Amino acid sequence: MAFPYKKVLLIGATSGIGLEIAKRLAKEGIDVIAVGRRQSRLDEFVSKAADPGKAFGVAFDIAEIDKIPAFAQSITQAHPDLDCVILNAGIQYVMDFSKPHTVDVSKIQHEITVNYVSMVALTHAFVPFFQTNSTEKKESAIIYTTSGLITIPYPMVLNYCASKAALHSFILSVREQLGQNPDNQKINVVELVVPLVQTELHDGQPGWGPDFNPGMPVASFVDAAMAGLAAKTTTVAVGQAEALYAEFEAEKERRVGPQWAAIRKAFGKAQSFD
Ligand SMILES: NC(=O)c1ccc[n+]([C@@H]2O[C@H](COP(=O)([O-])OP(=O)(O)OC[C@H]3O[C@@H](n4cnc5c(N)ncnc54)[C@H](OP(=O)(O)O)[C@@H]3O)[C@@H](O)[C@H]2O)c1
Repeated sequence: MAFPYKKVLLIGATSGIGLEIAKRLAKEGIDVIAVGRRQSRLDEFVSKAADPGKAFGVAFDIAEIDKIPAFAQSITQAHPDLDCVILNAGIQYVMDFSKPHTVDVSKIQHEITVNYVSMVALTHAFVPFFQTNSTEKKESAIIYTTSGLITIPYPMVLNYCASKAALHSFILSVREQLGQNPDNQKINVVELVVPLVQTELHDGQPGWGPDFNPGMPVASFVDAAMAGLAAKTTTVAVGQAEALYAEFEAEKERRVGPQWAAIRKAFGKAQSFD
């Protein structure tokens, strides 16, 4: 099965999971607009792409929230055939609240900004464009990268876990909001739930290094992720994250729809934006 979209904006494409997905998509003949802060990595991706005419690099720091609307506008103007956005960028900080003097509060804010607020702002910026696609009966997708740590938080990276759990909650609700509106029904909201993977995310973390990197190899992870995305599965959970998701989250995903329907029925107009 092939990847279902033709032109992808991939945010967080300069290393690890994003770079590997970008290379696979480019190899499949899909246009890829790669985004990250490191220009040299973007240049390298474009120059090595099988067809450099179908690969693009745009340097952008998604933490600059106020610049996101202009960024989205410039992308959709330059690429009116865009039909998929993959929101994959992420950062992870180790922090220990038992030694509060070591905790840098600005890092808490930055991690929430990159992993959550920017994702929400990017959704807000791209939905109007995809709504136009949808009314023209063209299918589009917003694909978010979360983590197995949405299910069981891990204390060493506690704020990271909170940021990804927040993003997971947002994904469930935004999928419902878009799905409820007939104009948006061709916008697929997809969540990629990632297990521990060997990437730069863990560089510099205590105890991690060439002798200790227990995650899944990036290539094997991306094999499974691409298969799930090609099958148009709404939630693509891979490796250890698949079992965790099935145990802790799948039931919630099954129950929220009927729960929301019951609330709407009980409260009527009070639960509607009309
Ligand atoms: N590796 C794991 O074990 C694991 C587990 C669960 C979930 N995940 C998630 O998987 C996703 C990909 O991470 P990875 O493991 O592949 O790590 P990675 O190799 O460190 O890649 C992170 C990507 O995010 C981009 N990024 C970070 N901050 C950014 C910013 N302010 N603006 C724009 N781009 C930014 C980086 O690009 P620049 O540095 O060039 O900006 C890079 O392309 C993340 O959302 C991560 O949370 C990873």
